[in-house]
Amino acid sequence: MRLGFLGTGEITAAMVRGLAGQGHQILISPRNPTMAATLSAEVAGVTIADNETVVAESDVVFLCLLARVAVDVLPGLPFRPDQTVLSVMVDVSLDRLRDLCAPARDIAITIPLPPIAVGGCPLPVYPRSPVLEALFGARNLVLTQPSERALNAHLGASALCSPILAQLLTAADWLAGYTGETVGAEAYIAAMIRCYLPAQAAEGELAAALQKLSTEGGLNATLRAAMAPALDDLRRGLDGFQTRLGLGNEGEART
Ligand SMILES: NC(=O)c1ccc[n+]([C@@H]2O[C@H](COP(=O)([O-])OP(=O)(O)OC[C@H]3O[C@@H](n4cnc5c(N)ncnc54)[C@H](OP(=O)(O)O)[C@@H]3O)[C@@H](O)[C@H]2O)c1
Repeated sequence: MRLGFLGTGEITAAMVRGLAGQGHQILISPRNPTMAATLSAEVAGVTIADNETVVAESDVVFLCLLARVAVDVLPGLPFRPDQTVLSVMVDVSLDRLRDLCAPARDIAITIPLPPIAVGGCPLPVYPRSPVLEALFGARNLVLTQPSERALNAHLGASALCSPILAQLLTAADWLAGYTGETVGAEAYIAAMIRCYLPAQAAEGELAAALQKLSTEGGLNATLRAAMAPALDDLRRGLDGFQTRLGLGNEGEART
């Protein structure tokens, strides 16, 4: 397939690395120049070209720009009706993309994370994108959403990564206070959490994993009770995204 990437930053680098070895012809824009040169040296089939050429010579165009740049750059580019456009930009709606990328019509928004470089990345998408499934579905978890609002809610949920990592680091620091060994403490905490996380969590496996750690009076249950207020804080923090992500209020979210 002929794939084009507009914007050559962190997420383009991860996606291009995730596509390596599949025989695609990949065009990337020259910005940022250091990253563009690194990718073209590292991944077979990657060529650097200006934005016009990226769009003109690709079957699939990935929009990996900052939103404020995209609104300036996209309208002048030669999109075609037969092209697929996949946007990873968090703050440009589907309606806006239809205007910016006219006359292209096959447009979807997805939310990749940097681990897409190695696979195992969740990829929520709206609307359904057979092209995204074909390119990334074998190594990643493509999750088609029923609406743009549902897709946007994944953005809110993805913010969980940072507070969870902060908790893991706090626990590792606490542990290292007794072992005197920071590296070993972090390794223990990371491996322990990893081995409890189900690979797909397809059938209530998260709840089942929690149930196994709920022995009354056990250390897990005791710490969880001590931290119960943090769960309310988490929900409040997520609800705080409602306006920013166009989610409506909580009542609407449950209907
Ligand atoms: N990073 C993530 O984890 C992640 C995850 C999901 C979605 N996203 C979304 O992906 C988009 C890109 O994020 P990022 O983290 O990859 O940002 P980034 O590292 O800042 O990359 C943005 C790229 O756009 C380039 N650029 C600027 N002006 C351009 C122009 N006129 N034509 C072509 N390219 C131009 C920049 O080049 P210069 O450096 O030369 O300015 C840079 O390479 C954002 O909308 C973000 O919300 C990011």
